[in-house]
Amino acid sequence: MLDEKMTDAINKQLNAELYSAYLYLSMGAYFESEDLSGFANWMRVQAQEELSHAMKFYDYLVQRGARVTLTEIETPPTEWDSPVAVFEHVFEHEQMVTGLINKLVDLAISISDHATNNFLQWYVAEQVEEEESASGVLQKVKLAGESPSGLFMLDQELSQRVFNPPASSQ
Ligand code: FEO
Repeated sequence: MLDEKMTDAINKQLNAELYSAYLYLSMGAYFESEDLSGFANWMRVQAQEELSHAMKFYDYLVQRGARVTLTEIETPPTEWDSPVAVFEHVFEHEQMVTGLINKLVDLAISISDHATNNFLQWYVAEQVEEEESASGVLQKVKLAGESPSGLFMLDQELSQRVFNPPASSQ
């Protein structure tokens, strides 16, 4: 049986992952409105990744016989000043999520929940990739913003991103 505090904390993280999906869909809608369909595609794929992160927590709670409790999802922002501002936001958001995952690991360790700590290590590794991916696009969009054709070329590149469902860690 999963500890009550751990169950609550995982349910909160499930909500945070769903919010991330919501945030990236909102960013995608912003890019659609700016006629940057490649950027919008990148965000759509990112939202799918976040949904898969949420479902991994959902499935873990079910597997441990704990109750999944869904709560209200915060309204995301809808406007940004520029593509650079969007990706600065993405990078900051992912750093914040890394902090949340680290706190979950701290909790698992503090109550000697080795199984959950082991489960969470998938997210620890995933956050390294999430931050790298966000900062990689941020650097490119900063460079692209300085040349007239740069944004168009980057939009073409980002249109190629496809969703690869993560392999199960269980
Ligand atoms: Fe679910 Fe982007 O971290």
